[in-house]
Amino acid sequence: MGGVGPMTFARLAAAISEAGALGQLAHPSLSLEEFGATGDALQRQVDEVVRIVREGIHEAVGLTDRPLAVNVRIAQEQPDAKRLIEAILEERDADPDVRKQLRVLTTSGGHPETYGLNDRIREAGMLHLHAVSNVRHALTAQRAGIDAVIATGYEAAGHVGHFPVHTFVLIPAVAESVDLPVIAAGGVVDGVSLVGALALGAQLGYIGSRFLASEEAEYHEAA
Ligand SMILES: Cc1cc2nc3c(=O)[nH]c(=O)nc-3n(C[C@H](O)[C@H](O)[C@H](O)COP(=O)(O)O)c2cc1C
Repeated sequence: MGGVGPMTFARLAAAISEAGALGQLAHPSLSLEEFGATGDALQRQVDEVVRIVREGIHEAVGLTDRPLAVNVRIAQEQPDAKRLIEAILEERDADPDVRKQLRVLTTSGGHPETYGLNDRIREAGMLHLHAVSNVRHALTAQRAGIDAVIATGYEAAGHVGHFPVHTFVLIPAVAESVDLPVIAAGGVVDGVSLVGALALGAQLGYIGSRFLASEEAEYHEAA
């Protein structure tokens, strides 16, 4: 499951893990009118995002015994990213169930070493996956010691790149360039598209939009 904000989607993540795939928590956005906020106003927003993610982690862990992932958007304009990663590591330290189940951290939208927390992520025993939209960024992620790259094509909602390189063009290019597992994101919606992605060199699919139509998704009633 791809990380899909702007909610944690704890219920959906737990249901996906229960079904045998890897469910993933995401996080809310800082609200737009406060986007340029600094000082206390910004701090209050960051505190709230961190609180919601801590709550989401415990909700998901309460709903399944299976492994889970969590996504943090780490672009430069995400002033909550460092606090979020620290909070995730703290929750793992504090609760053995969280430590056992929350095994994968995915980052997207920036340089994978931006917050200098990579060693702590590794020491905590989590796998660190990073979303990339081109070969250069995949190679950067590999140099940074990332465990797998999420090759994110232009089809993907929440696309991380500037150029319209489509998933089924990007996957083979990334797979040939890095010595890491490649996870295909963007337009993987069913068995056929998953098999296509695997045939092109991916090891896993990363599904966002398709899962949002599920009953367990918080979007469901409104959609
Ligand atoms: C509503 C929505 C919100 C998303 N939010 C995030 C996010 O917060 N962080 C992130 O890394 N990717 C985000 N994505 C991208 C997904 O993680 C994933 O890469 C993408 O959905 C895969 O393409 P697909 O929607 O065609 O399955 C989002 C996608 C959707 C549909």
